[in-house]
Amino acid sequence: MTVLDGKAVAKKVRDEVKARAEAFAAAHGRKPGLHVVLVGDDPASQVYVRNKERAAAKAGLEGQVHRLPGDTTQADLEALVAKLNADPAIDGILVQLPLPGHLEAQPVLDAIDPSKDVDGLTALNAGLLVDGRDGLRPCTPSGCMRLIEETGADLTGQRALVIGRSVLVGKPVALMLLARNATVTIAHSRTADLEARVRESDIVVAAVGRPEMVRGEWIKEDAIVLDVGINRTDEGKLVGDVEYAAAAERAGWITPVPGGVGPMTIAMLLGNTVTAAERREARGPRGGR
Ligand code: GUN
Repeated sequence: MTVLDGKAVAKKVRDEVKARAEAFAAAHGRKPGLHVVLVGDDPASQVYVRNKERAAAKAGLEGQVHRLPGDTTQADLEALVAKLNADPAIDGILVQLPLPGHLEAQPVLDAIDPSKDVDGLTALNAGLLVDGRDGLRPCTPSGCMRLIEETGADLTGQRALVIGRSVLVGKPVALMLLARNATVTIAHSRTADLEARVRESDIVVAAVGRPEMVRGEWIKEDAIVLDVGINRTDEGKLVGDVEYAAAAERAGWITPVPGGVGPMTIAMLLGNTVTAAERREARGPRGGR
């Protein structure tokens, strides 16, 4: 069994991004710009956003966080997105989720210029992914695929099981596995006999948010196991969606929690921002709109 070390791979990705960001700045006289919108004071979101801010600066991006009060209106939030869309020095816009309960996320996400949608969550980018065409891809699924690449495995004809059908992870990662010619099953809370599905799978991506719900003994010998879950137990310990110790005895490759998929998300976000910047400059001053 080999541990898929997300921290190490994320570092490698961030170094690649930094080199691309420097080349971009040298060519265009400005750094790629990432702007993050945070509404309200959700403690977890504040930590995530601060981490994004720091990582962006270290990778040589221009970055700014727009912190809005918890009672911001839908119209004011969408007006800010419109302003960021119109600014040619901004290449990436990310609206941190979840939004406070009185706000609707999808209209806000869909208001983002798709050429700046570094989260890959607009309807256009989701559609390009379905169609297998170039677009900006969601960050956590991209991080999963990058980790699978590290194994050197050819996914063609392999049985891949995605547990979870969220817009942020499950659905997009399933489409990315399909694009690599895996035979993909999407399991979810209504799936009958999850154990049997796991037992037959060469690749398992667990993204349900239920602590250790995938038992280690279900894992097929030599399978690749990616654990997207981050759950805090009653004892304050962080565990994934997979029972790690027992799964590690059977898996060929497995991501730990923490230190697996988690660190990849921000690294892929930075990569998306430089990609968006490069594509927008290549398309001309209006960024292809
Ligand atoms: N909150 C948790 N994960 C994400 C993500 O990938 N993107 C955004 N925008 N918010 C999140």
